[in-house]
Amino acid sequence: MNPEEQIIDLTNRLNYYNFQYYQNSISEVDDFTFDKLLTDLTALEHQYPEFRQPDSPTARVGGTISKEFKTVYHRFPMLSLGNTYSEEDLIEFDKRVQKGLNGQAYEYICELKFDGVALSLTYENGVLVQGATRGDGVRGDDITNNIRTIRTVPLRIGGGHKSVHESESAPSVTAIPALFEVRGEGFLPLAEFDRINKEREDIGEPLLANPRNAASGTFKQQDSGAVAKRRLDCYLYSFLSETDVFQTHEESLVAMNAWGFNVSPTWQKCTNIQEVMAYINEWETKRFDLPLGTDGIVIKVNRYDQQRDLGYTAKSPRWAIAFKYKAMAASTALNGIQYQVGRTGAVTPVALLTPVLLAGTVVKRASLHNANEIERLGVMMHDTVFVEKGGEIIPKITGVDLNRRTDKSQPIIYPTTCPACGTTLVRKEGEAHFYCPNEQGCPPQRQARFEHFIQRRAMNIESLGEGKIELLIDRGLVQTPADLYALKATDLLGIEKVFLVEETGKKRVVSFREKTVENILTAIERSKAQPFPNVLFGLGIRYVGNTTAEKLVDYFGSMDAIMNATPEQLLAVPDTGPRIAESVVAWFEDADNREFVERLRAAGLQFVGEKKVVEQEGDTLTGKTFLYTGTFANFSREELESRIEANGGRLLSGISKKLNYLIVGENAGPSKVEKAKKLNVPMIGEDEFMAMLVV
Ligand code: IVH
Repeated sequence: MNPEEQIIDLTNRLNYYNFQYYQNSISEVDDFTFDKLLTDLTALEHQYPEFRQPDSPTARVGGTISKEFKTVYHRFPMLSLGNTYSEEDLIEFDKRVQKGLNGQAYEYICELKFDGVALSLTYENGVLVQGATRGDGVRGDDITNNIRTIRTVPLRIGGGHKSVHESESAPSVTAIPALFEVRGEGFLPLAEFDRINKEREDIGEPLLANPRNAASGTFKQQDSGAVAKRRLDCYLYSFLSETDVFQTHEESLVAMNAWGFNVSPTWQKCTNIQEVMAYINEWETKRFDLPLGTDGIVIKVNRYDQQRDLGYTAKSPRWAIAFKYKAMAASTALNGIQYQVGRTGAVTPVALLTPVLLAGTVVKRASLHNANEIERLGVMMHDTVFVEKGGEIIPKITGVDLNRRTDKSQPIIYPTTCPACGTTLVRKEGEAHFYCPNEQGCPPQRQARFEHFIQRRAMNIESLGEGKIELLIDRGLVQTPADLYALKATDLLGIEKVFLVEETGKKRVVSFREKTVENILTAIERSKAQPFPNVLFGLGIRYVGNTTAEKLVDYFGSMDAIMNATPEQLLAVPDTGPRIAESVVAWFEDADNREFVERLRAAGLQFVGEKKVVEQEGDTLTGKTFLYTGTFANFSREELESRIEANGGRLLSGISKKLNYLIVGENAGPSKVEKAKKLNVPMIGEDEFMAMLVV
């Protein structure tokens, strides 16, 4: 096969495996093989960019940086829906539909109202060519590269995921119009939202407020590689084209699903408004089992000709309406507050409640976030509080029932000392949390540091989880994670502890039998081979999550280089701001931390990684700043950026007086050119730029 055929073959195979995995839950190849094929394709595309296919699965991992999103006009405006909150309103809507259709028979399709971000995807000849946000309904942002990272969004339909074995081809697809749009809701799955927040809490980053905002913020990120890491998803619920393809909404849902789009199976056809009510009741609590937040249901007239007859008001269709569920709330007593201390020393108040049933689950605890939140709510101890279940998994306290406040209510006095070790708490300016500064001596901080160190993304010694670390600390066998590397079988064999599990009130025995000890010691030994970015992440430096650790390693290459880096050098690492730079410098300045690092070095952990900074080609651009607009014949955007850096130049993110050159390519952004003219910034073409690289 020649390179072009190889690229086409790999593209088709990977798209087919992806389709089988996400559409039919079949893994035809293991992760390792899949990744290997993807790496091969990436390398080939790099070498022969001219053969890259428009539906290349390499877009899933992102890698493009959009300095700003292009504005695109929607072919059909993106409208909103009228809202109802009661049965009576719904009956009124049904009456209006009945009247509008002059007594014709009609059916409804009921769907859940997904709480995310409205998206519009355009397909031309079966290939995804554009993905846009709703914007103001008339025009939105072109976020195609970010949408391509969503694994369940097909990059091509109708033959794109050709079977590797010709006989079992993908579902036969008929009558796909050359140009069509599908619309749906992009969202961050709740489990993913939780995972991200756990990770953020772990490294001391402020938490994302809710899944909807998190999704909306992620879709607007400029680096599609960062978007890919967040595993967004999308449910499609509308099909639009100039030609009449379907007679009913139901047909469109069935077809979209068959073509490989992610259509939530929760929709249902209803022949009258009573069936609609039954659907509403059925999903009132069942919706909490779904992978995303929902805040109501959407009722749509099924037949397209009837939709056309009913028409639109200025803002929304007359053939559809949203029914919003009332927030699931309950009221209960606040009996106490537990102050939890996290790995970074942040103190989080957790409300202890009289157990109450809320949307099918018993709620005993709710997060109060921080001292500001307690103040904002004006809540007092022994108050009756309202708890609500929203999109988030942990219910939240939304207010106080002042009518039920009695003399028993007492002001909440926020602790001034650490509830675990008694050290005076501190609060830095601009921070929402109080912190316990006793990093080395505070027991929950120490315990959490171990948990951080042994996690899969760090040293992967997870066989030490579930109470085992606590036991080792209790017995004085370990003080810091570096002590793990000195453990011997004789230290561990036979030790045990009985734990009381708070939730269930049951006892749990943690014991070190022969097999357990063997597993643990093997895992500790194996952890010495964990790559350097994992080690760096495992150190637990505040604000240094996985991605930051990787970027630091790519830039510096070794522990020694990072340890000795100045704040200025750290700031030169992509995406590293003063907060991270200060945190890294402060961490390595601490004598205990330095000793910890030296002991890990002595134990044989990986302290060097692959330096991936662009090899310096020359210095002809030293001291000069650049920005580019448009596309180029000789470089991809990434190549242009790396050539600038490799020759000593610096990229700026916007046009200002500080900019020395704007490199202008094909289809350059008119606003950038305009601004450059205004500020007298010299504009050069691709050839002039290339000439600058030659000494
Ligand atoms: S249909 C003419 N179906 O709700 C409007 N919208 O207020 C067609 N939404 O912007 C929209 N789930 O983001 C429709 N199953 C669903 C939906 C849904 C959520 C959102 C959508 C839209 C907003 C309308």
